[in-house]
Amino acid sequence: MERTFIAIKPDGVKRGFIGKILQRFEDKSYKIVALKMLNVTQEQAKKHYAEHEGKAFYPSLIEYITSGPVVAMVLEGENVVAGARHIMGKTNPDEADVGTIRGDFAQAKEYNIVHGSDSVESAKREIAIYFSEDEMCENYKTMLEIVMGQ
Ligand code: RTP
Ligand code: MG
Repeated sequence: MERTFIAIKPDGVKRGFIGKILQRFEDKSYKIVALKMLNVTQEQAKKHYAEHEGKAFYPSLIEYITSGPVVAMVLEGENVVAGARHIMGKTNPDEADVGTIRGDFAQAKEYNIVHGSDSVESAKREIAIYFSEDEMCENYKTMLEIVMGQ
């Protein structure tokens, strides 16, 4: 089963959207395999956003993601990488559809309140930055797994 890494960014936490954002993923019946609140370290931020190093927005991106606590999670489900990004909406909230997290709650690309891995490989890399293997809690069944007899 596919896994992805999701983070509610500091603006999402400060604006009080933890519950609403979690609800959207729970509504889709993705399985929450790991979940925690943490202050992202400089080291974690630089590893996470290594692909953007050198770009004009990189310094402010690092400052933003380390500016307050984030809520990090690992979700599991069928095609969850693409599916979670669909629920999040496009990077630029101006272009994100109404009904998506960014389309409904964000105004600016620089403060788009949620992160989601862009591929299965990125997900594996990002999960390892924020979680250890013993933090994974897959030993329970979601209602969807019960309904589908899995
Ligand atoms: P994310 O990694 O946070 O899920 O977002 P994404 O894949 O949709 O977008 P990505 O291209 O990976 O950009 C990472 C984050 O950098 C900030 N950003 N700012 N000022 C800018 O032009 C700009 N472009 C990107 C956003 O916070 C974006 O989510
Ligand atoms: Mg990205």
